[in-house]
Amino acid sequence: MTLSYPYVKSTFTQHELGLVTELMERENMTLGFSHSALCTEEIARRLGLTQPPQRVFLTPSCTSALEVAALLSGVGPGDEVILPSYTFSSTATAFALRGATLVFVDSQPGSFNIDPQAVRDAVTPATRVIIAMHYCGVSCDMDSLSAIARDCGAMLIEDAAQAYGATAQGQAVGTRGDVATFSFHHTKNLSCGEGGALVVNNPDLCDRAAILLEKGTNRSQFFQGLVDKYSWVDLGTSGVISEIAAAVLLGQLQRADEINGARIAGWNAYHAAFAPLEADGVIAARPHVPEGCAHNGHIYFILLPDPALRPGVIAELSRRGISAPFHYVPLHDTVAGRRFGRVSGQMVEANRAGSCLLRLPLWPGVADHVPEIVAEVTAAIEITKAVA
Ligand SMILES: Cc1ncc(COP(=O)(O)O)c(C=O)c1O
Repeated sequence: MTLSYPYVKSTFTQHELGLVTELMERENMTLGFSHSALCTEEIARRLGLTQPPQRVFLTPSCTSALEVAALLSGVGPGDEVILPSYTFSSTATAFALRGATLVFVDSQPGSFNIDPQAVRDAVTPATRVIIAMHYCGVSCDMDSLSAIARDCGAMLIEDAAQAYGATAQGQAVGTRGDVATFSFHHTKNLSCGEGGALVVNNPDLCDRAAILLEKGTNRSQFFQGLVDKYSWVDLGTSGVISEIAAAVLLGQLQRADEINGARIAGWNAYHAAFAPLEADGVIAARPHVPEGCAHNGHIYFILLPDPALRPGVIAELSRRGISAPFHYVPLHDTVAGRRFGRVSGQMVEANRAGSCLLRLPLWPGVADHVPEIVAEVTAAIEITKAVA
């Protein structure tokens, strides 16, 4: 059956189409203004970065940006990387690829962001990297994480895959870590199908980042006139995106306020509608956004009161034309997580989110449909409870 309420909807308009068409009509798409350069300038402007645009690099995905972040960190066998268990595989696999040991820690209740106290408890003399993943575009507690990273001499990396446009205490998310990574995958607020960005906030890492992303060559120095030819100088990968993807992304970046604003309207409508259902115990919890954080409306989730209800509720909603997916299987509880990592502390919140969390359709325009969706969610929960 066709879902009336899919989880994700594209937001492309004539604006993105116009940018791509103009590019296609060029005799040579690398001549004329560069969409990639305009994207990096726009991201730097949006994040409030004052240093040269060289700090922002477009990448084929957030995963590839994380892989370059892992290379920049220099971790290898014997080194430990502390990260939330409740995250996507890419946060972890980038560092497992380098042979580092992953140390999974729990999340905070309500936001499901990494718990700073659990991070502090997990630090050992082998700790080299701490990863903050901003779940749902809500900032982690970066003051605490920065202090811990400083105390133990670890690099702080922000997996901001979901967080473009979010702020904390007025500062853009993605500007506090040594490096930060963003995703422009089609499930994200802004998309070019597959795409990402690496933001390098630690100036000592900028030059190497450019080399790693350009197949290990000093090509970018060549284009700046700093060397007379470019050649292979370091490890590297193909970390750039096509001009076609950049043209689409430019259109989306230029419409970021419109898209994020419409998503936030949907988020707010859900939050108001679920308040009485939380009070009545129909659902166990709604998201918590800490004081001072402005999220970007990336995900609206609820927690069901009993994990046993979730498969039935998902199936019942699907029958009613509503896609309401669960989210991560906590990494400590996966085949690869057990192979490449170890657990530090309890996993109460990661397990809770892993078993009770349900995401609801969220896209520009959903706000008008929220009363109907929430009524269907309520009915699906009641029916599932009745047959349980
Ligand atoms: C937290 C997190 N990190 C990384 C990624 C990977 O992003 P991409 O698909 O752009 O590689 C995702 C994708 O959903 C994500 O949610």
